[in-house]
Amino acid sequence: MFELLKSQPSDKIMELMALYSEDSRSDKLDLGVGVYKDANGVTPIMKAIKESERSLLENQISKSYVGLLGSLEFCKEINYLVLNDEIEEKRLAYAQTPGGTGAIHQLLLLLRSTGFSGAVWISDPTWPNHGAILKHLGLNIKKYSYFDEETCEVDFDKMQEDMKDVQNQDVVILHGCCHNPTGANLSLDQWRVLSEIFKEKGVLPLIDLAYQGFGDGLTEDTEGLRKMMTEVPEAMVAVSCSKNFGVYRDRVGVAIAMSENQNQKLVALDNLKSFNRLTFSFPPDHGAAVVNQILRDESLKKLWREELEQMRLHMLSLRKNLARSLASETNSDRFNFVERHRGMFSKLGLTESQVETLREENGIYMVSDSRINIAGLRHEIIGSLAQSIAKVI
Ligand SMILES: Cc1ncc(COP(=O)(O)O)c(C=O)c1O
Repeated sequence: MFELLKSQPSDKIMELMALYSEDSRSDKLDLGVGVYKDANGVTPIMKAIKESERSLLENQISKSYVGLLGSLEFCKEINYLVLNDEIEEKRLAYAQTPGGTGAIHQLLLLLRSTGFSGAVWISDPTWPNHGAILKHLGLNIKKYSYFDEETCEVDFDKMQEDMKDVQNQDVVILHGCCHNPTGANLSLDQWRVLSEIFKEKGVLPLIDLAYQGFGDGLTEDTEGLRKMMTEVPEAMVAVSCSKNFGVYRDRVGVAIAMSENQNQKLVALDNLKSFNRLTFSFPPDHGAAVVNQILRDESLKKLWREELEQMRLHMLSLRKNLARSLASETNSDRFNFVERHRGMFSKLGLTESQVETLREENGIYMVSDSRINIAGLRHEIIGSLAQSIAKVI
């Protein structure tokens, strides 16, 4: 039987990780993998997480199943964190999922179950798993323009132009904040314009929120999303806690489906429950329980918010330093966008061969589309990185 299997296409980032670990140079630099690193190059466990885990360890009295939708209490906390109680509870169906990826997957299953025959639009470029999951589920994929390769900013004119081809009942996937891979983000005004277009055309947004708190702040990062959710009748949000709580391997996420009314919400909820049952049965509890305790305890929540803010400010200071060093090494303002971009990533606008030269000659590893992980930088190496980049362009 297994001789019939075909190999799966390889993952660019996994390949890069393998190349990096084989590289014996002591001064090699990993800007590829998408995890946060602190000033010492470590992906830390947040103090609030450790504290919450300690208390869970002491107080948890059972490991029995929780429920097919996970913990309702946790989902409500996440709903409050993301939507700030701005949408009536009676319109919201939510399900706990294994990470943001699980949330995207379950929401797309929900979509497919409606007998959906339209297109799902993804940004060009986007996080590669969007296209891969859509393909896996047999959904029709279309791409909309998003990024101007010259200026390395959002090309909103082109995006709007492409929105003319989006049909009634199509789905558009947006990044809630901190666009991966580009780092270029929609302004609040642009969210407003899109909300109008979606409302007018009857388009369903699926908003992927994987980096809340990494951009301009916890509330600021969901402003556009919340604006859109209050305008359109239906929407879906895939929330990931992997990055902002640093619980990558614990798989913590929530799928939110906003319906027009309570009846539809209840049917959506029933469907989400059934999809969890069919896909993995019960979602993993540990990480969600730890996050839930943080969000329900004022002092733990304060600690978590402070730690998250430190991470955000650390990335901003790295951005500032890199933009300035690149300006002085290249004698130009070509890379000033690095300071304007938000989140963990920036796409630098280098060619594949320039990226390859940086890897081969300098041991600098970035994704072939020139996406770098800003959090992979340390202040002390930014000068030499800027010199190396200036040399290859
Ligand atoms: C844009 C985007 N969406 C979703 C995710 C999902 O993250 P996870 O499944 O680890 O929670 C990621 C993680 O890299 C991401 O970058």
